[in-house]
Amino acid sequence: MKRGLCTSVLLVLTLVLVEYTVEGLAEENQQPPAVYIFGDSTVDVGTNNHLKDCRTKADSPYYGIDFDFSRPTGRFTNGHNIADLIVRHLGYKRSPPPFLSLINRMSGFQSAILRGVNFASGGSGIFDQTGNVTYIQVVALGKQIQQFATVCSNITKVLGKAKADELLSKSIFIISAGSNDIFEYSENRTVLPAIFMDKLIEAYTTQIEELYNLGARKFAVLSVGAIGCVPKIRALNHGNCVDQVNQLAQAFYTLVSSVLQQFSSQYTEFNYSLGNLYEVTMTTILNYLVEGYKEIRTPCCGDANTTCHFGGNLCNNRNQYLFWDMFHPTQVASDTAARVLLFSEATELVNPNNISRLAVIP
Ligand SMILES: *[C@@H]1O[C@H](CO)[C@@H](O)[C@H](O)[C@H]1NC(C)=O
Ligand SMILES: *[C@@H]1O[C@H](CO)[C@@H](O)[C@H](O)[C@H]1NC(C)=O
Ligand SMILES: *[C@@H]1O[C@H](CO)[C@@H](O)[C@H](O)[C@H]1NC(C)=O
Ligand SMILES: *[C@@H]1O[C@H](CO)[C@@H](O)[C@H](O)[C@H]1NC(C)=O
Ligand SMILES: *[C@@H]1O[C@H](CO)[C@@H](O)[C@H](O)[C@H]1NC(C)=O
Ligand SMILES: *[C@@H]1O[C@H](CO)[C@@H](O)[C@H](O)[C@H]1NC(C)=O
Repeated sequence: MKRGLCTSVLLVLTLVLVEYTVEGLAEENQQPPAVYIFGDSTVDVGTNNHLKDCRTKADSPYYGIDFDFSRPTGRFTNGHNIADLIVRHLGYKRSPPPFLSLINRMSGFQSAILRGVNFASGGSGIFDQTGNVTYIQVVALGKQIQQFATVCSNITKVLGKAKADELLSKSIFIISAGSNDIFEYSENRTVLPAIFMDKLIEAYTTQIEELYNLGARKFAVLSVGAIGCVPKIRALNHGNCVDQVNQLAQAFYTLVSSVLQQFSSQYTEFNYSLGNLYEVTMTTILNYLVEGYKEIRTPCCGDANTTCHFGGNLCNNRNQYLFWDMFHPTQVASDTAARVLLFSEATELVNPNNISRLAVIP
């Protein structure tokens, strides 16, 4: 770690203090009308359950062990994921359902899409081909945006153009993508990192702009976490974080940050919150005892090389683990991160707005 001790102490203070400011925004009646969610397994709430050939699904125990009725829902964690927790702190009782569950539903589609939809698909990436070989069938971010375009036309049909535009302009768009593109690139570095990163950011820029063109105005972008420290990657390096992978996550943050700055100077109505999940995770890893964790290297369920499955390894104290399975955080870790992104004033962790502020921008 190159960061100074002082910064690190400051950040951990922020993480701890944030615990005390957890009032939802509901009472202030500043809840955004709808939330639309895009990305990968960090925010998937069951999309992949609807994909017949998909090879990455969280549809069986022990996934969901801490969800209502210990039900596996397709979330890649023991309970709720970071999208659920952000939405809950914004005052929603329910997290927006997967698009693929809504289109298979006989009724309620039209009212549901006015409250929010989740398009995220575990294993997918910013690039169309990411996850296609390993997981056979996933919904890439580009495809998710196409699905949203359909939803937009449905919303316009219900509300008319002016009301639809107003709804979308006040809604929050959560996007959490890039980890799987970086994982795949790391396995097989066929081009120089700078070239890979340029292409990745170019694709992401186009996608964010597409959402803007469809009417999105408030973007809550979650950058890539410290993915060089997930159990699966640590296992390749004697249990230590892999710096090369973490460096890609850091570079991704820096580049996304300048893209978003560019958009807000280019478009008068573009507002955003960029969450630095790399820093949030690293702060926890460096100060895990203060934050109440006992284990940050190995996952609670399965192990570094074994997927989480019924009858396999399962820890007792899930609140003391940073990782639920070889790739994904526990619910408690996601909750800490969600609170930081919503309420923190530390610009190193979230900027230029935290999400609670983004929600109330007129
Ligand atoms: C994904 O793989 C399938 C089967 O190999 C192929 O037909 C399809 O074009 C691929 N899609 C992308 C986006 O690469
Ligand atoms: C939503 O819009 C698409 C494309 O315009 C249309 O095919 C579909 O039938 C619409 N769905 C509903 C439920 O209105
Ligand atoms: C690495 O990338 C090259 C070029 O895209 C491809 O031909 C090769 O199959 C890939 N290897 C692995 C292990 O994915
Ligand atoms: C919202 O975005 C516009 C530019 O798109 C900017 O002028 C304004 O200051 C932003 N508001 C906040 C609260 O960040
Ligand atoms: C996982 O695999 C790596 C390398 O294949 C090995 O060094 C490590 O001991 C394994 N870890 C576990 C927990 O099985
Ligand atoms: C969110 O960010 C704003 C602006 O930085 C700050 O004033 C506020 O205290 C932060 N927390 C909440 C809960 O709004």
